[in-house]
Amino acid sequence: MLNKYFTTPIYYVNDKPHIGHAYTSLAVDILKRFYISRGIDSFFLTGTDEHGQKVEKAAIDQGIDPLKFTNGVSQNFRDLSDLLNLSNDDFIRTTEERHKISAQNLWKVLLEKDEIYLSKYSGWYSVRDEAFVSENEIVEKDGKKYNGFGSELSWVEEESYFFRLSKWQDKLLKFYKENTDFIVPKSRANEVIKFVESGLKDLSVSRTTFKWGIGVPNNKNHIIYVWLDALTNYISALGYPETEADLFKKYWPGIHVVGKDIIRFHAIFWPAFLMAADLSPPKQIVAHGWWTNEGQKISKSLGNVIDPNELINVYGLDSIRYFLFREVPFGNDGDFSKLAIKNRINGELANNYGNLIQRIISFIYKNLEQNIELTAENYDFDILKQINKSEAELFKFIENYKFDEYLKKLFLFMNDLNNYVDKTAPWALKKTDPEEMKRVLANISLCIIRVTQYLSPFMPLKSKEVFKLFDNLDDIDLFHFDNFEKIKSLNHFKINKPEPLFTKIE
Ligand code: MSP
Repeated sequence: MLNKYFTTPIYYVNDKPHIGHAYTSLAVDILKRFYISRGIDSFFLTGTDEHGQKVEKAAIDQGIDPLKFTNGVSQNFRDLSDLLNLSNDDFIRTTEERHKISAQNLWKVLLEKDEIYLSKYSGWYSVRDEAFVSENEIVEKDGKKYNGFGSELSWVEEESYFFRLSKWQDKLLKFYKENTDFIVPKSRANEVIKFVESGLKDLSVSRTTFKWGIGVPNNKNHIIYVWLDALTNYISALGYPETEADLFKKYWPGIHVVGKDIIRFHAIFWPAFLMAADLSPPKQIVAHGWWTNEGQKISKSLGNVIDPNELINVYGLDSIRYFLFREVPFGNDGDFSKLAIKNRINGELANNYGNLIQRIISFIYKNLEQNIELTAENYDFDILKQINKSEAELFKFIENYKFDEYLKKLFLFMNDLNNYVDKTAPWALKKTDPEEMKRVLANISLCIIRVTQYLSPFMPLKSKEVFKLFDNLDDIDLFHFDNFEKIKSLNHFKINKPEPLFTKIE
């Protein structure tokens, strides 16, 4: 199956969107744009996770009815999608009717198959992570109990439905063994496998002590555990329970991009729920690392939460998109520092890429009556041939989520191009060999277009600005990589007056 289905986690609405949310969403946006550019049909889902104790508590703290509260905060996340120029195809909210029907249906199937039974839960619970915590994971400090993420725990004792997770232990291990790239990166897969091997207990999947959730069918005292509710979003958006629905048939199973903190829910619980309901498990779980701010953990209490709005105002959207994925290998933790952003923007975007375009395009604009002729020889230019030859390698980088390697490789070509400009010095050729000058400028222009095409999933707005510099390419959709070939049918470029692409950071 060629179609691709990428999802972000659905975000808790107890909080304002921050850089962590933006990071996951941008990764999925880049993937979607990249596959579309290759002509591969892709669907991108994001949304909001609106039930659970944590959200209910946030609404109560503000003295607002939970639904009213979630309507407001969910909108913040839709606004974030606009701010980040996301290409999502749908935005799902777990308070929507389509989702409720879907989640209750999954519940009924699991109950009918005897995968769920009624019993009693007593144990520790983290409201912040909406997660049950086993004794061996508890950390004690100053007489209080915490989980491994530092979230305070509370004692819960109530009647609860349980999912027979223990029964799925061996089947999950077999599944991981047969699907070696199910969890990316490998280090995370090993953690998950170790955890499953250490023994899975049945999972409590309903709550009775608060009301803000989807009701358990036929038992009005219970609501569905928020993670079972939330994970279902990935299929409710595709039309589940209608497994014959177009979207479901076309896109399931999907690829879930998540932060490292929520991998267990996605790589253990979710495939177990699905297999228990006779549905295919997801295709892949891709876990990224966490960002710190100038070396410090990002947290509300430290007051160092990074607001995507401010960041974009200061540095510009595409520069931030570039920085986040060039600076740190996806999967590793990364540090967000002003100096690191400045170095990337000034050194790579402004000097290497932007300046080359500015120099070359202005020169053509001023000296060649805004026109450049193309010949077959230009397509035979060594650097262009190298770039074209690297396509398979570049594609492999993205297929393996090595965004940083992909960008690094493209900027090495930009280095080669800058060296070529310095060596051939087209401005000097103007007097000595005008024909050679034209040839050099045409070579460089074609390379600029080629590199920009490959950069476009990361920097769609800047790429558009660059494409617009070539006036008579309007009818060719250069966002599609293969359309580069169509340029060959032209025999010249018309150049528009260039404006600086990136401003240097002081
Ligand atoms: N609602 C759940 C997901 C349910 S999916 C069925 C949830 N929401 S969240 O809003 O708390 O987190 C969303 C994502 O933001 C997670 O992938 C998390 O890893 C990510 N990040 C939160 N802080 C982050 C950083 N400081 N750095 C990078 N990503 C971080 O979990």
